[in-house]
Amino acid sequence: MDIIRVGPGFAAELRGVTLADVANDDAAYAAVRAAFEEHSVLVFRSQEVTDEGQLAFSRRFGPPEVTKVGSLGTGSHFVILTTIGPDGKVVPADHRYAMRNKANQLWHTDSSFKKTPALTSILSARIIPANGGETEFVSTRLAFEKLTPTRQKQLANSFAWHDYAHSRGKIAADLASAEERAALPPVCWRMVWKNPVNGRGALYLASHAYAVEGMERAAGEKLIDELMAAATAPGTSYVHAWKGGDVVMWDNRATMHRGRPWPAHEARLMVRTTISATAADGLEAMRPPSQQAAE
Ligand SMILES: [Fe+2]
Repeated sequence: MDIIRVGPGFAAELRGVTLADVANDDAAYAAVRAAFEEHSVLVFRSQEVTDEGQLAFSRRFGPPEVTKVGSLGTGSHFVILTTIGPDGKVVPADHRYAMRNKANQLWHTDSSFKKTPALTSILSARIIPANGGETEFVSTRLAFEKLTPTRQKQLANSFAWHDYAHSRGKIAADLASAEERAALPPVCWRMVWKNPVNGRGALYLASHAYAVEGMERAAGEKLIDELMAAATAPGTSYVHAWKGGDVVMWDNRATMHRGRPWPAHEARLMVRTTISATAADGLEAMRPPSQQAAE
């Protein structure tokens, strides 16, 4: 397996290894897992991807999420991100699918709004537009390491509230349905996720974050906005331009990402599997002290 760095201080393409190798071979998994801990974003090119193959690969990293209510693929282990409607045609720009893509274009980390957040997301390209539709990543680990030690310490002892309805509300007031709101009440996480393998901290932020525990609402929002801006400053991102057969996985503990736009009339179909974080991934320390005591 060869590791080729592709981003500014993070992100790497892996060559000489397939999804099937990782699914079937312990040594291949161990090598890819080590690269994942180190590089945060991994790119696999020219893969022969099936739903089953993607899921078998994904399961190596932990328990797969069951897709939430209101998303295509609900109840399965797959999230279907598409602009193709049930009639086989590309949906209009004001369609719910298209609005969801807009929400996906805000900087975020997947599933920070869930009761169990995500370790990693695995995204495969099935139908891609000729232009645009890239996925852009930043390292919240590198962003954290740029802060002063005082600031790092302060944030490591701060907690932020995350709410799916908040990020969707930035696009349209009713984009999160009543059913989704009921299923996804706000959750609170430490603002720094420490990787238990290498001990490195990363800012844990997203478009879903809306308040800092113990701070005035406006002051908390300002802090979140400043940290988001610093973490996504120009020159810090890796932009993945998708090709057929590409699979990209990322560490939701140490990155943020956003989708980039593409011409609305062009079809795009991507399939995501998402692996929940577990205690081995540093999850327990992310909970506010009150919840640690209660569980
Ligand atoms: Fe995402």
